[in-house]
Amino acid sequence: MKICIIGAGHVGLVSGACFADLGNEVVCVDVDGEKINKLRKGIIPFFEPELEELVKKNVKEGRLSFTTGLEEGVKESGIIFISVGTPSRDNGEADLSYVEDVSKRIAGAMEEYKIVVEKSTVPVKTGEWVRRTIKLNNVHGVDFDVVSNPEFLREGSAIYDFMYPDRIVVGVESERAEKVMRELYEPLKASLIFTDIKSAEIIKHASNSFLALKISYINAIANVCELVGADVEKVAEGMGLDKRIGRSFLKAGIGYGGSCFPKDIAAFIKIAGESGYDFELLRVAEKVNREQREQFLKKIKDSLWTLNNKTIGVLGLAFKPDTDDVREAPSLKIIEQLQAEGAKIKAFDPAAIETTRAVLKDIEYCADPYEVAEGSDCLLILTEWEQFKNLDLKRIKSLLNNPLILDGRNIYNPRELKNMGFTYIGIGIKPEI
Ligand code: NAD
Ligand code: UGA
Repeated sequence: MKICIIGAGHVGLVSGACFADLGNEVVCVDVDGEKINKLRKGIIPFFEPELEELVKKNVKEGRLSFTTGLEEGVKESGIIFISVGTPSRDNGEADLSYVEDVSKRIAGAMEEYKIVVEKSTVPVKTGEWVRRTIKLNNVHGVDFDVVSNPEFLREGSAIYDFMYPDRIVVGVESERAEKVMRELYEPLKASLIFTDIKSAEIIKHASNSFLALKISYINAIANVCELVGADVEKVAEGMGLDKRIGRSFLKAGIGYGGSCFPKDIAAFIKIAGESGYDFELLRVAEKVNREQREQFLKKIKDSLWTLNNKTIGVLGLAFKPDTDDVREAPSLKIIEQLQAEGAKIKAFDPAAIETTRAVLKDIEYCADPYEVAEGSDCLLILTEWEQFKNLDLKRIKSLLNNPLILDGRNIYNPRELKNMGFTYIGIGIKPEI
């Protein structure tokens, strides 16, 4: 099939490369000319495991190309995916101006029947607006269908998630579109669920919100564990073995971040409110998430007393491992707060130093974790990169001013660290002091 993907970002580029690898002819369109030039040279604009190889392979084999020419991409293709950003506005609602802009331009370029697919995460009823916008700007008066096909991939495992999805959700309103979408996804042999467009839109917001709720729930449990001297890691294990609960997304920490959960939960609360339902449950999940960071900061202050002129070593900047993405990363907010209190920050991340450099000032970036530890008054673990789990902790201890580790991701064994002479403070675990 001939596919045009508009928005060559974390979702668009991954989807484009995967659809091409499944044998389709794909053109990825982006307004960012620099990004398109890089892609044409084989340079991937962000870090995602295995993406570079997949893009290069499919470009070489002639199934994947890049352009800034939206009109040309639309004309050549039968299915048009919209995967542009839908960021948060100040009041929490999703900014749909990119989706609107793209919908108008698609409409102007359509010369024959097209299927226009919302892949960006959008609030319920956006499909209606997309249809209305295309209808108003449909200069050639051609037939078209709007489809909602939300994406559930995670950064860091995006290609695997796309190729082996738990389910594919497709909101359609015509048999013609349903048939094409079924054929498109047939090679993945995945569970396909067809719904109306509004239900598909809600499935996406409801899924992300549920996962965020699960994280806030285990973080709330972690707080109780700290107060009574229990161990949240054991509690999560014991809960997670119940198949109805499940083990995933029960990792206590410094709260969820990233470009999606914070904005999608805010957008879902907003659209529910506008529709007449006060989604208090999700507002509490947001509050727990905010407080999780604040409590971590309090633990740092309780351990170091004053922060002015103290040197704090930070391991991990990305919002999660295996990505260079720092959008809404808990690390950024924690570092900003520490800097505001006069602390000096030394930091290392295996992938996210450049992306952090673009948004934060006055950080001393180091070449590895040992350089971070040297002369620092404590060490913070803010992202659970695999590399940090295998450090030479004896060496780390010899380099630190104080043998103090505050672990926002619970990657170490508290007993082992205590036996090595560290003061180790995690999340929801009894401090081994
Ligand atoms: P991104 O910022 O990485 O990429 C968006 C791209 O769209 C950018 O390259 C931007 O230049 C381009 N763009 C913006 N306006 C455009 C226009 N008018 N024409 C052409 N291109 C345009 O964003 P992303 O992370 O890929 O997210 C895209 C959407 O997918 C969002 O709605 C997001 O919530 C959703 N989503 C993201 C993920 C994820 O893991 N990042 C997963 C599932 C869903
Ligand atoms: C998330 C969803 O998992 C994807 O299904 C969805 O497609 C995507 O959002 C989206 O809509 O953009 P992603 O943000 O890439 O994917 O990463 P996650 O692995 O979900 O982690 C999100 C945040 O939650 C991270 O900050 C992570 O550290 C945190 N988290 C996750 C926890 O604190 N505890 C957990 O148990 C799991």
